[in-house]
Amino acid sequence: MRISVVGCGYLGAVHAASMAELGHEVVGVDVDRSRTAALNAARAPFFEPGFEELLASALASGRLRFSTDIADARDAVVHFVCVGTPQKRGEYAADLRYVEAAVESLLEVLDPGDLVVGKSTVPVGTAARLADIVSGKVPGAMLAWNPEFLREGFAVQDTLHPDRLVYGLPNSADADTARARLDEVYAAIVAAGTPQVVTDYATAEMVKTAANSFLATKISFINAMAELCEATGADVKLLADAIGYDDRIGRKFLNAGLGFGGGCLPKDIRAFMARAGELGADQALTFLREVDNINMRRRIRMVELAREVCDGSLLGKRVAVLGAAFKPDSDDIRDSPALNVAAQLQLQGAVVRVTDPAAIDNSRRLWPQLDYADTPEEAAERADAVLVSTEWTQYRELDPVAFGRVVKQKRVLDGRNALDRDAWETAGWTYRALGRRA
Ligand code: UGA
Repeated sequence: MRISVVGCGYLGAVHAASMAELGHEVVGVDVDRSRTAALNAARAPFFEPGFEELLASALASGRLRFSTDIADARDAVVHFVCVGTPQKRGEYAADLRYVEAAVESLLEVLDPGDLVVGKSTVPVGTAARLADIVSGKVPGAMLAWNPEFLREGFAVQDTLHPDRLVYGLPNSADADTARARLDEVYAAIVAAGTPQVVTDYATAEMVKTAANSFLATKISFINAMAELCEATGADVKLLADAIGYDDRIGRKFLNAGLGFGGGCLPKDIRAFMARAGELGADQALTFLREVDNINMRRRIRMVELAREVCDGSLLGKRVAVLGAAFKPDSDDIRDSPALNVAAQLQLQGAVVRVTDPAAIDNSRRLWPQLDYADTPEEAAERADAVLVSTEWTQYRELDPVAFGRVVKQKRVLDGRNALDRDAWETAGWTYRALGRRA
C-alpha cells in the first residue's frame, strides 16, 4: 500500500520506517530540509535505540524515502499525521497549529477514497472538526484517529509490536472502509493477535490522554508517598515493591524520584485540563493539577536535599549532574527534570557540571548557561556532591570505589533511586535519595 507520513519527528520518522518494514511504499514528508536529508542518508536526527538500523534497512528496501514536498504524497492512499502538539506558550492548552497545517497541506493531494489517519495527541473534539474539513474539501476522503503509545527509548519495538491498536472511526458508512484500510496497513500486527479497540473519534482521542494522565498520576502518587516517607523515615522503594506485588496495582511506573518530564506527560495532562475546562467539565480533572504540583515539588526538594548534603549551603560547591535527558536511552531534554534541577542548583550558587551520554549537544543549545563535561569522571572532578538525575545504565553501573577517587567529597544524591545503596555506602559514600531515610 502507498502511505505518506506527514511530520518526521520521533513519532513520524519511526512510524514511516516501520510501515516500510511492514512492506508498504512510504514517503515521509517534513518541512525541515536538514531532517529529511539526514533521514534519506540513513542518519537518525535523534537518539533512539534500534532506529538507525531500521531506517537503513527500510531505505535499502527501496520502499522508503523522505521529502519536503507534500506533492510527493499524492500517490499515497493512506496519509498519517504525525506532527507535534506542544503546549501553547503561557497557556495549558495544546498548540494545534502544526496538525492544522499538516491537514491543510494534505488537502492539496487527497483523492476521493483516501484515508487521513491522525496519530498526534490532540484535545478531544479535534478529529471531528478535521474530518469535516477533509470531507468538505475532498468529498469521499475519510479521516480516522489512531493514537500512538510509543515510548521514547522503545519507539521501534512499540511501533512494530504495540500492545493495542485503537481506531477512532467516522460515525458514517465510511467506518467499515476506513477500518478495512487500517487493518490492511497493520496486517502483520493484526495477524499477531494484537488487541483492537474500534471506536468513535472522541473515545480514541481520549484513550491517549487518559492513558498518559493515568501514568502521570501513578508516578505522582508514589512521589507523594515519597514526601510522606521523608516525613516519617519510611522507605519509598520498599513501599513501592510491597504495593507493586498486588497485581491490581503493579510495580511499573512506581519509581519515585525526580518525577516525570519529556514532551508528552507534562503537556498532555495540562492540555487535558484545559480541554476539560472548555467543555465545562474542569472539576473532573482538578486532581491532575495536584499531579502536576507533586511532580514539580520533587525538583525543588532535590535542590533542598543537595543543600542539606552540602552542609547547608550550595554557594561555591561543585555539583556533578549525571544525566540531562528526561529519561535514559533518549537525547530528549524537553521539560527534563535533570536540567531543571541543574539550573536551580546553579542559581543557588553551585558550580554545576552536567554530563549525559546522548543529550549534551541538545542541552548546550537550550541551556547554554550550564557547564558540560563529556564523562561522569570529568563532571565529578573535585565535586562536593554528585547527583544522578537520569538513570542511564552507565551511571547505575558506576564503580563507587573508583568513582570515589575522583570527587572531593563522597556524597551522592540518587535522583532516580537507581543506585545500589549498599555498594555506595560500603565504598564510603553518604547516600541520599528522595523518599528514603538519610
Ligand atoms: C510516554 C508514555 O509512557 C507513552 O506510552 C506515550 O506514548 C508517550 O508518552 C507519548 O505520549 O508519546 P515517554 O514520554 O517516552 O512516554 O516516557 P515515559 O517512559 O512515560 O517516562 C516519562 C517520564 O516519567 C520520564 O521523565 C521518566 O523518568 C518518568 N518516570 C517514569 C518516573 O519518574 N517514574 C516512573 O516510575 C516511570
